[in-house]
Order: sequence, then C-alpha cells, then structure tokens
Amino acid sequence: MKLISNLVALILLPWFLLAHHVHQTSAERSTYIVHMDKSFMPKAFSSHHYWYSSILKSVKSVSQTSFDSDKPEPKLIYTYDNAFHGFSVVISKNELEALKRSPGFISAYADDIITPDTTHSYKFLNLNTATGIWPASNYGKDVIIGVIDTGIWPESPSFKDDGMTEIPARWKGICEVGEEFNSSLCNKKIIGARYFREGIRAANPGVTIPMNSARDIDGHGTHTASIAAGNYVDSVSFFGYAPGTARGVAPRARLAVYKVLWNGGVTSDILAGIDQAVADGVDILSISLSNRNTNLYENPLAIASFGAREKGILVSLSAGNRGSGVRTIRSGIPWGVVVASGTVDRWFSGTLTLGNGKTIIGWSTFPARAAIRNLPLVYNETLSPCNSSSLLSEAPDQSIIICNLTMENTYFDSTMSYLPRSNARAAIIISEDFSILRSNSFPFPGVVISPTQALEVTNYVSSSDAPTATIEFQQTILGTGPRAAPVLSETSSRGPGLSYEGILKPDIMAPGVLILAAYNPHVSGPPIGNNVFLSGDYTLLSGTSMACPHISGVAALLKAAHPDWSPAAIQSAMMTTANPLDNTGQPIREDDNSIATPLGIGSGQVDPNRALDPGLIYDASIQDIANLVCSMNFTREQTQTIIRSSYNCSNPSSDLNYPSFVAVFYSAEEGMMLTKRFVRTVTNVGNGAAIYKYKLEIPVNTTIRIRPQTLVFRKKYEKQSYSLTIRYKADIEIQHRPGSVTWIEQNGNHTVRSPIMVSAGADFSASYIMLLIDNLAVILQVPSFSSNNVSIFLLRT
Ligand SMILES: *[C@@H]1O[C@H](CO)[C@@H](O)[C@H](O)[C@H]1NC(C)=O
Ligand SMILES: *[C@@H]1O[C@H](CO)[C@@H](O)[C@H](O)[C@H]1NC(C)=O
Ligand SMILES: *[C@@H]1O[C@H](CO)[C@@H](O)[C@H](O)[C@H]1NC(C)=O
Ligand SMILES: *[C@@H]1O[C@H](CO)[C@@H](O)[C@H](O)[C@H]1NC(C)=O
Ligand SMILES: *[C@@H]1O[C@H](CO)[C@@H](O)[C@H](O)[C@H]1NC(C)=O
Ligand SMILES: *[C@@H]1O[C@H](CO)[C@@H](O)[C@H](O)[C@H]1NC(C)=O
Ligand SMILES: *[C@@H]1O[C@H](CO)[C@@H](O)[C@H](O)[C@H]1NC(C)=O
Ligand SMILES: *[C@@H]1O[C@H](CO)[C@@H](O)[C@H](O)[C@H]1NC(C)=O
Ligand SMILES: *[C@@H]1O[C@H](CO)[C@@H](O)[C@H](O)[C@H]1NC(C)=O
Repeated sequence: MKLISNLVALILLPWFLLAHHVHQTSAERSTYIVHMDKSFMPKAFSSHHYWYSSILKSVKSVSQTSFDSDKPEPKLIYTYDNAFHGFSVVISKNELEALKRSPGFISAYADDIITPDTTHSYKFLNLNTATGIWPASNYGKDVIIGVIDTGIWPESPSFKDDGMTEIPARWKGICEVGEEFNSSLCNKKIIGARYFREGIRAANPGVTIPMNSARDIDGHGTHTASIAAGNYVDSVSFFGYAPGTARGVAPRARLAVYKVLWNGGVTSDILAGIDQAVADGVDILSISLSNRNTNLYENPLAIASFGAREKGILVSLSAGNRGSGVRTIRSGIPWGVVVASGTVDRWFSGTLTLGNGKTIIGWSTFPARAAIRNLPLVYNETLSPCNSSSLLSEAPDQSIIICNLTMENTYFDSTMSYLPRSNARAAIIISEDFSILRSNSFPFPGVVISPTQALEVTNYVSSSDAPTATIEFQQTILGTGPRAAPVLSETSSRGPGLSYEGILKPDIMAPGVLILAAYNPHVSGPPIGNNVFLSGDYTLLSGTSMACPHISGVAALLKAAHPDWSPAAIQSAMMTTANPLDNTGQPIREDDNSIATPLGIGSGQVDPNRALDPGLIYDASIQDIANLVCSMNFTREQTQTIIRSSYNCSNPSSDLNYPSFVAVFYSAEEGMMLTKRFVRTVTNVGNGAAIYKYKLEIPVNTTIRIRPQTLVFRKKYEKQSYSLTIRYKADIEIQHRPGSVTWIEQNGNHTVRSPIMVSAGADFSASYIMLLIDNLAVILQVPSFSSNNVSIFLLRT
C-alpha cells in the first residue's frame, strides 16, 4: 500500500496546489448558459441552431477588441430546444456583453467550473442550510442509522464527531473489540460497531477470515455510511474531480455499523446483524444488499425487515444493479423502501482544444493533471478501432490518436487497457455509449466525445497540414452537461419485484451514479496505465448501493423533524412528494432516452424538502402489513416465518394502504376485461382544514374511477378514505402501462402523487429462466466462501 502511495506521489503533479480560481479578464473565455426567447427567431432560419450560430458570429464581429480579434468566433457547446430555449457557449465577457444586446436574449450565467461542491448530491436534492428539511430536522440530530454492510474505516475524516452531542441514553449498542479495532475507535458519530461472522465460519470450517472486526477492508460500507450520515469534511475530491466539502445527507445523524459481509455473506450473519441493530435501538436501517432468493419467507432481508418495521424502524434497501430488463428486482420487499439509482447533474470533463482554437468539452475522469499540450493529432482510420495492442503499437510517437468506438468490436474498457502500451500520449474517444459516463476508471489520458463533436475534430484534421490538440483534465461542471438529470441508471434493477407483484417496486429513486464518498484508503482505486493503482480517502462509486443511503439519510431527517411519524408515514412522505420530472421539467428518462416508467423510478426522484411537508400521508400499521402477508397464499409456516406468532391471519388483505398502485393481470386472463378496486386512507398532516381534488394520468386503454372526487378535511390528523377502481384489458400487447393519481390541495400548495401501473404478471414472460442463469452468475461472483452448505448469498449492490 505504501508502494501505491509513493507511486502516486511520483506520478501525479499536485493537482490540489494547482486547483485554480478563474480570474477572468474581459477577453478570456469561459462557459455561459444563455436563455433565449425563440419567438424572436427570424423566419429565415430553418433551426434554432443556425440562429444561435449567426448570433454568435455577429457577437464576434461586434465585440472585437485588440485582445480577442485573433480568436475564432465563440463556440456553441449545446443548444437547448425542449425544456427551454437557449445554448451554452464559451465566450469572453466582452462577447457576452455584445450577446446581451442581441434580439431574443433573456439571460446568461456562468457554468460552474471547479466549484466547491462535493457529495454534490445533497445540492442536487436541494438540501440547504437556509430553509427546508436540514434546519427543520437539525440535520438529523440524534437519529441513529444502522448500516448493514462491509463494516467501516473508522479513521475516515467523515466519521469524526466534531459538533456531535452526547450519545442518547436510549442507545444500547456497543463498540465491539476485534482485529485492529478497539472501543476507542467509536465516538459520538460512530456509536456502534459490531461484526457477524459465525455463519460464514460454520459454513466454511477452518476458513481464514481476513480482518476479524468491524473494520472495513473493502470500502463499500465506509462509502454507504458516509453518504447517509458523514460529517463535514473540507477539501476532498476524486483525484481533482468533484472537489469540495463532503457531507452526508444527514450530517448530524449517528451511525451504527454491522459488518455482515466478508467478500460475500450468509443469511445467518445478516439476520444476526439486523437483529442486533433492532435490539440496539437504531431508527433507520440502511441495507445496500440484494439477495437472490425470491421467496419472501426465505429471504433474510424480508424477514428481518418485518421485525424491524414492527419496532418502528424504517428499512431502506437498494433495488439491485441488474437492470435494465423488467423483473430484475430480486425480491422487492413490500415493507421496505426499495431504492432505484439515477444520475446527478455533475459532469467530469476534459477540455479538448484543437490547434485552430476550437474547444470541445468531453468526458474524462483521468485521475491526474497530465500535460497534453499541442501534440500532433492523428486521425488514421486504420488505427481508429483502437481494439488491439498490435494495432495501437503502430500509433505515432507522442501523438494524440482518435479512437472510434462506434465501430463494431470496440469496447471502452479494452481500449483503455491497450492504450497504455502504445506510443500515443493521449486519445480522443468517439462514443455514444452513456454507460462510459458511469465509470470511474479512466487509466489513459483522454476525453470521450460524441460522434457529432467528432465531426468538428475530423474536419479540422483533414483541413490542417499539421493538426495539433491540447487536453485539460480534472474539470467539473455542474448543472448542465450532455443531458438532463436525473436519468435512471441503466443498471438499476426494475420492477415488478419477483417476490410479490401486488406492491409496486421500486419505490423511489435517489442519486447513485458517481457518488463521491469516504473509502478505505488502502483499497486500490482507479488505475493509471495498467499497473499503477491510485488510492485515496474518497472515491466515486455507482450503483443502487449508493442510492439507498441517500434515502436512509432523508428518512433520518424526516424522523428528526417528525419524531412521531411511523415508518409508513415517512415512506409515504418521501414517495408522494417525489419528482417524476428531471431538471428540465420533462419526464425522467432512461439511458436510451425513452421515458422511464414507475417500474424503473418508482414514484420518482426523492425531494427531501417537499417530503418534510407532504400534506397527506398513507399510513399503515404492522398489523396491516401482517394482513398483507396473510393474503399471500403462503402456508401457515411460511406466513409465521415472516409475521411470527404476534399476529394472526384473521383479516387477510392484499389492499395495503400504500402510496402507489399496481393492477396485475395473468396469462390465463388474456383478452379479458378486468376490474381492480383499491381503498386507500389518507391522513391530513397539513396544518389544518384542507380540501383536495384529484388529477389523473390514465394508463393507456384503461379507465379509472375515483370516489369520492373531493377529500374534505376539517382538521389536522383527520383521515379520509377513497376508492380507486381500475378497469383494464389483460392485453399482452401492452404489458406495462404507467399512470398516476395526484391529490391536489385547493387553495394550498400540497400535491400528493401516487404512480399507477397496470402490469402483466410474471407468468407472461420467460424471465424466470433468465433469473436462473442470473443466479448462477451470482454464486460464481463470490469467490471466497461459496460452498454447498450456504444456500443464500448476499451481494453488495
Ligand atoms: C486503540 O487503538 C488505537 C489505534 O490503533 C490506539 O492508538 C489506542 O491506544 C488503542 N486504545 C486502547 C484502549 O487500546
Ligand atoms: C495509418 O496507419 C497504418 C498502420 O500503422 C499505416 O500503415 C498507414 O500508413 C497510416 N496511414 C496514414 C495516412 O498515415
Ligand atoms: C466511426 O465509425 C462509424 C461506424 O463505422 C462511422 O460511421 C463513422 O463515420 C466513424 N467516425 C469517424 C469520425 O471516423
Ligand atoms: C477491431 O475493429 C474492427 C472494426 O470494427 C473489426 O473489423 C475488427 O474485427 C476488430 N478486431 C478485433 C480484434 O476485435
Ligand atoms: C407552501 O406554502 C407555505 C405558505 O404559503 C410555505 O411556507 C411553504 O414553504 C410552501 N411549501 C412548499 C413545498 O412550497
Ligand atoms: C390463493 O389461493 C386461493 C385458493 O387456492 C385462490 O383462489 C387464490 O386465487 C389465490 N390467491 C392468490 C393471490 O394467488
Ligand atoms: C386475531 O387478532 C385479533 C387482533 O389482535 C384479535 O382480536 C383476534 O381475537 C385474534 N384471533 C384469533 C383467532 O386469535
Ligand atoms: C387500445 O385498444 C384499442 C381497441 O381495443 C386498440 O385498437 C388500440 O391499439 C389500443 N391502444 C393501444 C395503445 O394499444
Ligand atoms: C458443510 O458443513 C459440514 C459440517 O456442517 C462440513 O463437514 C463440510 O465440510 C461442509 N462442506 C463444505 C463444502 O464446506
């Protein structure tokens, strides 16, 4: 590990010393976002793009001074024509002033480059110190989040306890002594740390367990814990990207960690960890794990989560990373909050400047400040697949080469492994694969650009005698980028949940792509070249594992602000206020640009400030959940496994008072008209009397009837019920039909939205076979402890 750090020190220029503030002179250019009134576009222009280009041409001629007369005209980065009209452009202040006088100009503001903004997701979620849920909840003060994961790296600065008050007397947990872990490593932030390995040992007698303690030698648990409740840490970054102050979603909440994963884990250990967490008195359980067993009564997470809910603990679970096919959510526990993962509005970029002065903002997380300045730019179609070492060995010395990864048989990861063996110094990678934007591994200096941007580059190369280019790394852009945010992560698992289709899963979406959070500094991080691995206290990771602790953190804030709310109320508040739209006001999309459905995003992106004041909540008691389990046609034993003997099945009901709706049809019903009636009860948690009316988005070829049409509440905490009846055809041609119902407060500002799905049941598809294959793969992924004795494996997600 020392070796790694030394190599890092040798290879990297100290980017932290170079991180520059932009002192812009009036002739220096930087990126601005410009809003335009398109009604001013003269009829002569066939498209907004030409209009904006022509405006910029005239801006150039008007603004010419002795400083910028030698510059090319300002370069359009993006034009926007859907959510708003306008463009982003690299221009100088002089040019901007000229632009402001153009007809149709509305406003312009600078793009944020290298702003202090780490674990930026809090900002994307509109958490702020002035108003809303942070101050209202005292930042989650005293709420205890139990993290079931790979343990913790207690020395991480995210877990120092500055600003934390004394541990509440109700806390019953301990700081368990173990290998390289003694009780003095806990503090007022990490108030409990325990480890559970007996199951692993029993299944694998004689196995050597590395690090017999709650210490995290993986990094995953450290990362998830710091997302939920990390303390404030100044000046962190991922090798120059995403620089700023790190903080968790609930920076004043406390952490109790339960290490149950040892490079894979077993049921018994997981159950022990959750069981202990419940006994210790956690308020929220954060479980970034998924399991392969689809039977609720054989699923430790489902069973233990029921017990936790019974004790008033909200359980937040990751949906899994097996997207993007439907039914890739393994279990989809009806009494847990199942979290999908989306992108944030942060882009890591490399700026490519061509020898003619044109600038192209590409994507890069190359983790160093490499000096790629005015090197020869080579575009040779023979080389441009960049898909073998021998091919790349022919690249000219000290050149920047162009790799066209839109060609057949070309892959980003393998290209990145061949490039370090070539003589080229850097690469410009043409790709339209958005999944590259989720990778934190970028071992060779380069930028990824789109095929459209590539035209600019190849035009330049073919028109120049000695083409050159310069690339700058470690740039972070907020707000704008190649596309809107959030976008549902392609890998995020989709509903319906395989264990039970009667409750819509996932429930909600949160940031889970390239999230910067604390890490074990001894774990190898991103590579440079093929043999050097960097490491650091903070790293970027992607997955529903990262989305889940965001919801755990928001739940902690809600619990602090509303100590009397049940887990169902907290869940309802998050779901009914979640946003199905992205930051351009359009429906949240999939990676492939199609519109995401509730099977991908649940109710939408969590909106913590709105969740603080949801207006109405759909509450449910543990008896209501038991009644749901009783309706599932399990045997008596299976039912008891989940609900134990505390509850009987005298009143089974599948109509749980849940803040979403799903009507399932089965293959035997093909062609039939079906009717499904739900009854829901909402509690007024607004400040007094209120009247609500509904608005529907009706799924295609479906009718919906709601009674009564108006909900009248005379006072706070009053309950009102309504029925929602869906009439639909069991039609295999349209398997999954999304819709929604929103209760809108009259003369008020609360809106209470629930997604609706009309969905084909699992027997309509062959996905079970896929699942079996999938399961096999999962077992193979667990190298250390797989054995015939262990029936259920849990993998981090
Ligand atoms: C606990 O471990 C830390 C670091 O390993 C060490 O500095 C400290 O003295 C130990 N404390 C006790 C009570 O053993
Ligand atoms: C392109 O690369 C191939 C393989 O190295 C080489 O044979 C060819 O001469 C190059 N073409 C040009 C125009 O440089
Ligand atoms: C990249 O490859 C695609 C597919 O072969 C081709 O259509 C495109 O013109 C190439 N782009 C460049 C810049 O060579
Ligand atoms: C490299 O890419 C080219 C162009 O798509 C393809 O024809 C060739 O088969 C690929 N080679 C390998 C080794 O995959
Ligand atoms: C709703 O309106 C009240 C008062 O008009 C205001 O205090 C509150 O912040 C608003 N809530 C939201 C979510 O806009
Ligand atoms: C449960 O079993 C009963 C009787 O076997 C059957 O009529 C009913 O449709 C089943 N319900 C579900 C949800 O499978
Ligand atoms: C079932 O539970 C309910 C509520 O706790 C109780 O009223 C009822 O008597 C119980 N029935 C049986 C058969 O135990
Ligand atoms: C709705 O139903 C009608 C008549 O059954 C059918 O023609 C139409 O294609 C359906 N719409 C969709 C979107 O499938
Ligand atoms: C399974 O467990 C038994 C004891 O319970 C043990 O003897 C055996 O070696 C285990 N099998 C494997 C493959 O680990």
